[in-house]
Amino acid sequence: MATTMVLQSYYIHVVIIFMVAMSTGFKGTEAAPRAFFVFGDSLVDNGNNNYLATTARADAPPYGIDYPTRRPTGRFSNGLNIPDFISRELGAESTLPYLSPELNGQRLLVGANFASAGIGILNDTGIQFVNIIRIYRQLEYFEEYQQRVSGLIGAEGTRRLVNGALVLITLGGNDFVNNYYLVPFSARSRQYPLPNYVKYLISEYKKILRRLYDLGARRVLVTGTGPLGCVPAELAQRSVNGECSPELMRAASLFNPQLVQMIQQLNGEIGSNIFVGANTRQMSINFVNNPQAYGFVTSKVACCGQGPYNGLGLCTVASNLCPNRDQYAFWDPFHPSERANSIIVQQIMSGNTEYMYPMNLSTILALDSKN
Ligand SMILES: *[C@@H]1O[C@H](CO)[C@@H](O)[C@H](O)[C@H]1NC(C)=O
Ligand SMILES: *[C@@H]1O[C@H](CO)[C@@H](O)[C@H](O)[C@H]1NC(C)=O
Repeated sequence: MATTMVLQSYYIHVVIIFMVAMSTGFKGTEAAPRAFFVFGDSLVDNGNNNYLATTARADAPPYGIDYPTRRPTGRFSNGLNIPDFISRELGAESTLPYLSPELNGQRLLVGANFASAGIGILNDTGIQFVNIIRIYRQLEYFEEYQQRVSGLIGAEGTRRLVNGALVLITLGGNDFVNNYYLVPFSARSRQYPLPNYVKYLISEYKKILRRLYDLGARRVLVTGTGPLGCVPAELAQRSVNGECSPELMRAASLFNPQLVQMIQQLNGEIGSNIFVGANTRQMSINFVNNPQAYGFVTSKVACCGQGPYNGLGLCTVASNLCPNRDQYAFWDPFHPSERANSIIVQQIMSGNTEYMYPMNLSTILALDSKN
């Protein structure tokens, strides 16, 4: 009893000191931006693969040519990527890659990026890249992260940080491009017809999202695949006259609606709108079909690459490089340019329910700021 009293009065003292400090001391200090955690593949990796022995990397020029430092960072972009633009909307600095040695101390409170280029929903996706951080490993790192943060702000503080955070997860594209369709007669394509494969992916994705919830995530943006069949790499390999690859278009058009259904179902089971679907395929199709309306000169030819549509091989110093990256929807054979990324994030912020289901990020931010 006595101990409790002492503890309580100590607590009250701390609260009073804190309130006095708030009202007098550091004037104008707003609440710290909410933390941000990122999981997934190369669309959202901001440099974890730099620390790994893998060929799936973006740590050499001309990657990063339009980044503020003009240097490659590991982002698969000429400049900023989707998570960077989301961080800006949160009023936060960009998250560091989880494997970065600079991610320590107070910087941990900003959040972390666990994504790794080449990975997919399935453990056997991207095996040709050897050493990448598969999704279950990313989730283990998230647990490890929480232990580290507990050392700074305690278990309760960590729980609040994680529950209050925004989470982004981007998976699925590689399960088609770097698995099912990687080679003709791939093991997965012999095992499943496409519709059954998509069902299997969705059921595995659901387990991953459940796990994220169990680890404390309470606001999760889940992106679908991009317009897989229309990226310069697929135009170069599969297209006859520059039209999008029908098989990959079909894959994306099966996957994305089922993803939204699964999200609805999962939110129903949990009893809360934890997961929010971002229809990045629809967002990208708009500028793929009508690049001029978005100020692009082309959505077929990559800025950096070689061969038809600059869609073959990797983007390296030896590749063709366009002078103005803002005029290209695709930076390299697979990845959107910085400007395309910013358009995608604008739609994540303010899109209607055709793009963001059940709500857009501005609604999320408004709702959560009231809690
Ligand atoms: C993938 O690997 C994780 C952990 O290594 C395991 O828990 C999970 O069941 C595996 N998924 C499948 C579909 O085998
Ligand atoms: C964001 O979503 C809300 C709710 O669906 C909607 O009212 C609002 O118009 C959307 N924002 C914009 C800019 O469209």
